[in-house]
Amino acid sequence: AGLDAAGGQPAALPAAPPKAAEPLTILYASESGNSEKLAGDVAKRARKSGFKPKVVDFADLDLSTLGKDKRLVVIAATWGEGEPPARAVRSYNALMADGAPRLDGVEFGVLALGDTSYAEFCAIGKAIDARLEALGGKRAYDRADLDLDFDKPAADWIKGALEALAPPASAADNVVAVDFARGLAADEDAEPSRDPVVVEVVDHVNLNSSRSDKETIHLALAFEDGAPAYEPGDSLEIYPENDPQLVEEILKATGFTGDEALRRALLAERDITTLSATTVERFAKATGHAEAKRLIESGEVRAWIEGRHFIDLIETYPAALSAEHLNTITRPLPPRAYSIASSRREVGDEVHLVIAAVRYETHGRARAGVASTHVADRIRNGAKLRVKLKPNRHFRLPQDPATDIIMVGPGTGVAPFRAFVQERRATEAPGRSWLFFGDRHFTHDFLYQLEWQEALEERALTQIDVAFSRDQPEKIYVQDRLYERRRDLVEWLDGGAHLYVCGDAKAMAKDVRGAVVRAYQDVKGLSEADAEAAVAALEQAHRYQQDVY
Ligand code: 2AM
Repeated sequence: AGLDAAGGQPAALPAAPPKAAEPLTILYASESGNSEKLAGDVAKRARKSGFKPKVVDFADLDLSTLGKDKRLVVIAATWGEGEPPARAVRSYNALMADGAPRLDGVEFGVLALGDTSYAEFCAIGKAIDARLEALGGKRAYDRADLDLDFDKPAADWIKGALEALAPPASAADNVVAVDFARGLAADEDAEPSRDPVVVEVVDHVNLNSSRSDKETIHLALAFEDGAPAYEPGDSLEIYPENDPQLVEEILKATGFTGDEALRRALLAERDITTLSATTVERFAKATGHAEAKRLIESGEVRAWIEGRHFIDLIETYPAALSAEHLNTITRPLPPRAYSIASSRREVGDEVHLVIAAVRYETHGRARAGVASTHVADRIRNGAKLRVKLKPNRHFRLPQDPATDIIMVGPGTGVAPFRAFVQERRATEAPGRSWLFFGDRHFTHDFLYQLEWQEALEERALTQIDVAFSRDQPEKIYVQDRLYERRRDLVEWLDGGAHLYVCGDAKAMAKDVRGAVVRAYQDVKGLSEADAEAAVAALEQAHRYQQDVY
């Protein structure tokens, strides 16, 4: 008798051959890697639960095969103002369009990731969830919409979803059989600890001139116990602290005085700037504040929070808040990821970052980016920071060092390209390297100008084109330079070059893509549709990669 005999003792040996595991497709749409990481977590857990999981990036999805596996988990991030991650756009649109395959007999669960500080929270996950059902699929487990502090709720969701998706009778047998069969193998791919580590700031320099209207900090961090094994293209998360002055303002507005534990929590653990509809709802519920309730019921909360922060809420609707209240109303302070600007081959156990101080004014109040001004204003040489590596395997130098690379990185978007050029210099890669850099003014904002000149001399950089947007009456941007250089651009791409874009997601990355499409149109005499297809093919081949934020 095998393990599937009624009443069989799981520990009994010898085991019967494992039952055929239930195939499970785990489809993810990821921009910064969170959904991708969770997809890996699902796979690991699914394997232990008797599934045969297959992890598929939306970017690589062959839509006609969706529904082949009768169990489906989708993990989808929402990006910017309710958009799919860039790599997922094509397949996402196809899934939403007429002609998507029927999913009758498919059981699914959707996990949606988002950020409550943006409008259209989890819009993509919600849309996919509804679409899978409309195509005939059966929702086996309810969707969860998760904010940046998703670790714990995601783990809970994954557990619940896999239980719900498990094939009915034989699930328990499979657990035993598969666990037995895989044994140690399952443990081996357990991830190393992902706790943040404390590093020391060993360099802190403003790269802009004192007369610039920008402040961009070059930060060098030293890892006492050896830098993590990062690759050019990876990011580093910083665990920031809030502005102590803002903490005092919040304490004042809520009627607190000198509670040290609370002060510490507001400084380092709670997000005390972001104001989302969720924050307002939690606030109204916790305080019972009538006007705050009215704001929600009137449907005007979305418009009201625009440009406002948490402090505006508690000043507009004064209410005595307990420490407990503050804890339930605010979300945990999320770390901020910055693209690494160095190669270990050149800097050893350091990581370099390039961080632009974010400062602006809304509703008559000065606002400051939490992590960027923590670094710019309150960190100096010798200070400590908590950080964690965030790998990005979708932004990688070509495997073949002879392959040409084209890098488009205005502003702090130049960060990973400093890492790329360092790496290519250190490895003496024979491929050509072409950088497009842009910023406001040549004299004040040419980040790493001397380093690029050196790299040119050493031939680690083949050529550089610059676009200084405010040195002349009309704006000139990197995409304008790309288009000007379209003949060479298309020639490089035809020769197999990889194209990389890093920086602003909202406008720049889209404008750059548009310029590449137009370059194909013009140089090759293609229709817009054919040029678009040519660029889509580059993306498919992972030869057009983006790291945008
Ligand atoms: P601007 O501030 O003068 O508009 C780095 O921030 C550089 O990116 C700046 O020169 C900035 O120009 C420019 N920039 C702003 N919007 C852009 C866009 N849509 N495409 C490319 N570059 C842009």
